Amino acid sequence: MKTLTNENDGSQDANNVTTAGPNAAADLRSLFVDCLKDIYWAENALLKALPKMQANAHSARLASLIKDHIAQTENQVTRLEEIFELMGGKAEGKKCEAMAGLIKEGEEILEETEHGPVRDAGIIAASQKVEHYEIATYGTLYTFAKTLGLNDEAKLLAQTLAEEKEADMLLSDAAINAINTEADGEVGATADKPLSKKP
Ligand SMILES: [Fe+2]
Repeated sequence: MKTLTNENDGSQDANNVTTAGPNAAADLRSLFVDCLKDIYWAENALLKALPKMQANAHSARLASLIKDHIAQTENQVTRLEEIFELMGGKAEGKKCEAMAGLIKEGEEILEETEHGPVRDAGIIAASQKVEHYEIATYGTLYTFAKTLGLNDEAKLLAQTLAEEKEADMLLSDAAINAINTEADGEVGATADKPLSKKP
């Protein structure tokens, strides 16, 4: 969400208070819709990014977790569309800079690692950052919906929130049980090697 500072208002600048821009949310309901647009963009961006993560996973378990989460994400997008409909509007996305950054970070991990357990550990780390962002967002949206008395919307948001929490737990499990241990072994093996090879 962008805010504009009013450079003409010295007193506001001195207090470090940001003046709202022309499209500022007038009330909590507008802020709620604004946040819905953010996460609608974010979920759609994830749908495009996740297949690449799945293709790059070395562990079959991780690949299958990501595959399941793609199907879940498709349902979450549909749920958001239902919420827009309940609110009497059409589903609309607004670029979510936070998710764009998290997806970019995930892609950088792919560029910085070879296919194998270390890359898997990186994919899990990037995916958990995404899940935590989503948990925070859906938690907030749920609270906003309850505050606004939008109980049907809140119910749908609670379903997605529960799914995101479960996805996060499954990723933690995958990391603890197999991938990180294997990756650690690989790092250890590398550490024993000399830094540069003699010709
Ligand atoms: Fe999601």
